[in-house]
Amino acid sequence: MELRLVLGIETSCDDTGAAVLDETGAILGESLNSQKEVHLRTGGIIPTVAQQLHRENIERVVQEALERSSVAPGQLSAVATTVKPGLALSLGIGLEFSLRFVRQHNKPFIPIHHMEAHALTVRMLQPVAFPFLVLLVSGGHSLLAVARGVDDFLLLGHTLDEAPGDTLDKVARRLSLIKHPQCSTLSGGQAIELLAKDGDRTRFPFTTPMGQTYDCCFSFAGLRNQVTMTIMKQEAEEGVKQGTLLTCVNDIAAATQHTVASHLAKRTHRAILFCKAKGLLPSSSPTLVVSGGVASNQYIRKALMIITEMTGLHLLCPPAKFCTDNGVMIAWNGLERLREGKGILPPNVDVCYEPKAPLGVDISAEVKAAAIRLPSVRMKIPN
Ligand code: KG4
Ligand code: ZN
Repeated sequence: MELRLVLGIETSCDDTGAAVLDETGAILGESLNSQKEVHLRTGGIIPTVAQQLHRENIERVVQEALERSSVAPGQLSAVATTVKPGLALSLGIGLEFSLRFVRQHNKPFIPIHHMEAHALTVRMLQPVAFPFLVLLVSGGHSLLAVARGVDDFLLLGHTLDEAPGDTLDKVARRLSLIKHPQCSTLSGGQAIELLAKDGDRTRFPFTTPMGQTYDCCFSFAGLRNQVTMTIMKQEAEEGVKQGTLLTCVNDIAAATQHTVASHLAKRTHRAILFCKAKGLLPSSSPTLVVSGGVASNQYIRKALMIITEMTGLHLLCPPAKFCTDNGVMIAWNGLERLREGKGILPPNVDVCYEPKAPLGVDISAEVKAAAIRLPSVRMKIPN
């Protein structure tokens, strides 16, 4: 029997991605146009700029993915495209292109939820059975969920303000790390991970967020405020203006990274205990999957490993290139849906994008009501 082929298209944020995958998860061809460098220079994503860049690149990126895979549009079983959540202007470009494409080639259309796709990417690389726990941490998202099926998720916790990658990017910008010779081309998170390696995390003892709230939600705005106050104090002490590289950037980076890691580890720890109490995970080899751009941080992975070792979970982190946005994860999600016959629409369908879209059924109130206290854990993480 011939293997079914899916073209995946991603434009929800700042990456224009396309890929062709077969049913086994083999990547036949892919192309990715990252806008990160442009946005790094403007100090953040300007939606109209992102939209324009998607518009300029979508056609070429899709063509490249098809050419590299030697697959003609006629051979595709379906086209899968991110339609939620994300930046409205960005989502619109991918969706408009896809709807035109499926009509022209008379192919089924599979609308994809970006976070569901992140959560299930790991299954492309190895067999991971449902249900499993997943922590998604990126520049736009921060959540803990139980993945129970292709379209069945329980949301245990989400961020109340910003995502950890966003916080790291903003701290890096406030520290002017772009002026640091080692960091000029790195994302905020990467710059902080690099500098933290030579930093003393104990010099600036930041408070881990939400210590008195016994749920699995996240908050990073308060931490960012603590860091900003420290930076202002250090600028005053060193007698320099904002925009000057401080001598203590390594220590601030180390303390910030440690506090983010500790916050993520604590919320994840509580999620694991909640799942165990409610029987939400299998008793044999329960798994935690960690994905999203921030998941490529080795220090954060080590913090999570302390928790999973303590609670007997198996920790899985897909390689960095599968943790970040691309067409591959969207095509894979399309294949998962195709296999189960879920959410496959005819070519002439009219679909709207949704900038805001929760992941699954939100049971964060139930998690909070359980008020699970954590045993104290020594977060001794070697650099
Ligand atoms: O998944 P991603 O490529 O895009 C979305 O946000 O969807 O993630 C990008 C985010 C940025 O905020 C970046 O600073 C962060 O992931 N990031 C990291 C690291 N590499 C990227 N954060 C911490 N440590 C890293 N090594
Ligand atoms: Zn993403």
